[in-house]
Amino acid sequence: VSHLLGIKDVTADDIQLIFKTADQFKEVINRPIKKVPSLRDITIANLFFENSTRTRLSFELAEKRLSADVVNFSASSSSVSKGETLIDTVNNILSMKVDMVVMRHPNPGAAQFLSKHIDAAIVNAGDGTHEHPTQALLDAYSIRERLGDVNGKKVVIVGDILHSRVALSNIFCLQKLGAEVMVCGPSTLLPKYIHTLGVKVETDLDKALAWCDVANMLRVQHERMDIKYFPSIREYTMQYGVNMERLKRLEKPITIMHPGPINRGVEITSEVADSEQALILQQVENGVAIRMAVLYLLANRGVRSSEEQSS
Ligand code: CP
Repeated sequence: VSHLLGIKDVTADDIQLIFKTADQFKEVINRPIKKVPSLRDITIANLFFENSTRTRLSFELAEKRLSADVVNFSASSSSVSKGETLIDTVNNILSMKVDMVVMRHPNPGAAQFLSKHIDAAIVNAGDGTHEHPTQALLDAYSIRERLGDVNGKKVVIVGDILHSRVALSNIFCLQKLGAEVMVCGPSTLLPKYIHTLGVKVETDLDKALAWCDVANMLRVQHERMDIKYFPSIREYTMQYGVNMERLKRLEKPITIMHPGPINRGVEITSEVADSEQALILQQVENGVAIRMAVLYLLANRGVRSSEEQSS
């Protein structure tokens, strides 16, 4: 069985195949009749052990556009609260003849753990601070759509790199596609291993914005942003928030991205978030086509891990 557990294990050829397939599905979902029968015989369970708006709805829409049967599971209203384990929960769901599992979980490595214990294709919809592969795919796809290609582009990821699964998956995806990647944030929010990832590191946002073609602004994770990481939200905004004044000082216009949910007025002002330079809603739109492509290719065994390819 093939899975999509993280971008680290996916080849550049696989990513290009996902993009070409997404191009076709993007045409489909812009037609008056938005559905195709591609996954008519497939049943997919969406297991969300952590909150989500975009990813959960986007997967569900992608599955329905492909004519799959869909069941949704949310941990907060399930028997997990009675102490049922992850493997028992998933095996019970699979015994109802489910073919694929899309899972978001707060623990890093949860999707990989599950893939070793159950007999179904797994798509990681975000596992703790580890990876969020479909977010990285839709981000890179949106850059390709706006700027023509990802290869050779300079992309800075700004903010809480330490806790961000979006940052890690984006770094892997952008590098595989030939982009130059920089991370920018306070040193307390940069992981110690950052220098092993082949990225540039910058702590001055204005220098980072002057360097890049694209700035991907991460959400300030209020739940983690205590004094240990930064003195205050206000100071964070002053040093690492993007606003029009900062963008107007640049020699060339840059593209602004954000995975959502946005803290308006913290890491990004409303004026920037709602401007022509922002790609934020196009990212969300592209998420459906990307997830259709991933599900379709996995159901047809079209995405293989690099390990499988070399064997
Ligand atoms: N970008 C993202 O993963 O958003 P959700 O947490 O709402 O799914």
